[in-house]
Amino acid sequence: MAIVCKSSAEIAKMRQSGRIVRQVLEHVRRLVTPGVTTMDLERAAAKQIEEAGAKPAFKGYYDYPCVLCTSINQEIVHGIPSEKRVLKAGDIVSIDCGVVLDGYYGDAAITVPVGEEITPELRKLLQVTEASLYRGIAAARVGNTVGDVGAAVQELVEANGFSVVREFVGHGIGTRLHEEPQVPNFGTRGHGARLREGMVLAIEPMVNSGKPGTRLLNDKWTAVTEDGSYSAHFEHCVAVTKNGPLILTQ
Ligand code: MF3
Ligand code: CO
Repeated sequence: MAIVCKSSAEIAKMRQSGRIVRQVLEHVRRLVTPGVTTMDLERAAAKQIEEAGAKPAFKGYYDYPCVLCTSINQEIVHGIPSEKRVLKAGDIVSIDCGVVLDGYYGDAAITVPVGEEITPELRKLLQVTEASLYRGIAAARVGNTVGDVGAAVQELVEANGFSVVREFVGHGIGTRLHEEPQVPNFGTRGHGARLREGMVLAIEPMVNSGKPGTRLLNDKWTAVTEDGSYSAHFEHCVAVTKNGPLILTQ
């Protein structure tokens, strides 16, 4: 499958799904507090997606059971919401949400601290991961390559002593949740597919405070750091336009 470029009318539709994803994430972010379970977050998100007239993108995707992925501490991505997972002060939790509206997908993620106090190391992990996302976005320009995006993310992360996950990557997005190209959070400038007007990329750095290695839990979904270090994840959908990168999940 080739990389599908979107018309401005399609990008306008993707802004609508992106807006709903953002509203869900902002709503869920406010609920994150010690004592809340990840299933509480799931229920709130499911309700809000439905009220917005959209459909969840993750539920049923390869039999994934929920509308959110909620990944705590050493969990990198694809943590499954559960009544048994109670957030506690000092944790970090990644919340990843996707929706489809009128045939077009939106996908975004944030990682948030639980309670007011997290360690300075975790504070830095969140800041660097989010900043690396914006470095990647800034590289999503006509004429640049997918490798330029990955390199921009990787350079900032590694300059701060953290590492980027290799086994999971960002992706094209549009009328499917995952389209070509794959968008790794590492790479070499000038390498990979050339970016053209109308491409839409889900850029999603997954950053470990320790080594980059990953391992899958027995639930077959939850990816965790191999070395038990912490991991953060931020994601936006970004259209490549002639006026530069346009964030659709704003
Ligand atoms: N943002 C993630 C991704 O693009 C979430 C997918 S979860 C899944 O891969 F359940 F849908 F697979
Ligand atoms: Co994604």
